[in-house]
Amino acid sequence: MSTSPLDNLAAQKAELLEKVTSLSTLDELKEAEPFITGKRSILSALQKSLGQLEAVARADAGALLQEARREVEAALEARRSILSSQARAVALESDRLDLGDVVVSAVTVPVSVGHPGLVGSTQRELEDVFVGMGFVVAEGPEVETDWYNFEALNIPPAHPSRGMWDTFYVELGEPETVVLRTHTSPTQIHLMENAVANNSLPIHAVAPGTCYRRDTPDARHLATFHQIEGLIVDRNITFADLAGVIETFTHAYFGPDIESRLRPAFFPFTEPSAEFEITCTICRGEGCRTCSNTGWIELGGCGMLDPAVLSAVGIDGDEWSGFAFGFGIERCGQMRHQIADMRALIENDTRFLGQFS
Ligand code: DAH
Repeated sequence: MSTSPLDNLAAQKAELLEKVTSLSTLDELKEAEPFITGKRSILSALQKSLGQLEAVARADAGALLQEARREVEAALEARRSILSSQARAVALESDRLDLGDVVVSAVTVPVSVGHPGLVGSTQRELEDVFVGMGFVVAEGPEVETDWYNFEALNIPPAHPSRGMWDTFYVELGEPETVVLRTHTSPTQIHLMENAVANNSLPIHAVAPGTCYRRDTPDARHLATFHQIEGLIVDRNITFADLAGVIETFTHAYFGPDIESRLRPAFFPFTEPSAEFEITCTICRGEGCRTCSNTGWIELGGCGMLDPAVLSAVGIDGDEWSGFAFGFGIERCGQMRHQIADMRALIENDTRFLGQFS
């Protein structure tokens, strides 16, 4: 009886199919593949051995072997697809969010959603007080030309009073012609220009906003800070109206126990001018580090509009008069909440900031 290399094919195939069924991971399958259908498999070895057969027998045996190979390959692919869908299911399961955990963590770790900062909320409170007194709220640009920030406010180029405002210049146009506004007073000029253009005098407005100075921060100063400007242009306005507004504001915002006082001062855009001070709320007037032992804190400046400013914007100073004031918003918040050092406002210590939520 002649023997053929394929005599044991049925048993060999059965062994391979059994091996395929026993594979339990994709890694195992990858490792075993060369021995099942690949170069190192019995199927490949048998293929080689067919060379010794005669042509006719070789063709029959070849077809038989091909058939067996197809069966084993199909079984292997079927196994691969089962194992990979199992692997996907395991991965999905481990990624799944456990609702139980979510509920527990929401209870034990409260999510912080933040709250308005002290400066923003102080600004809003100040606006409320002034709106209650009949002012409207306006706004002006933070980048100004030298004309709005200085010249129209009666501060000519190289005037010594410019030293009051250490200025950041913007590199735009001719050198030192564009500035980050050093105070909110240039909004006075915008408001008056608009009122003249629209024939809408009188003006009763406040304009809050950010200001910038080349200052070193200390207990009462920041280089980026906020002011609220006030402007009244109307008929028959006197210094008594200004003093009345300041007094009413002080009691409305700081309460009846806090006193205010006006001290003679100089500002180029107002005449007469005054500094507006209140009792230091940290020492209640006793004297402390924050008020430099004076018992008083300066909140800002004020005064009657200088006729030179009115004429710079084309308002007839014989018919109209008015006053202006400008307060530091951080100062107001600092005094309202008795904060000894203003730098705390920009240090981002949430234990401090969280007190004002
Ligand atoms: N702009 C001044 C400053 O920043 C404060 C000021 C003084 C504003 C007098 C005014 C004013 O409106 O009348 O130092």
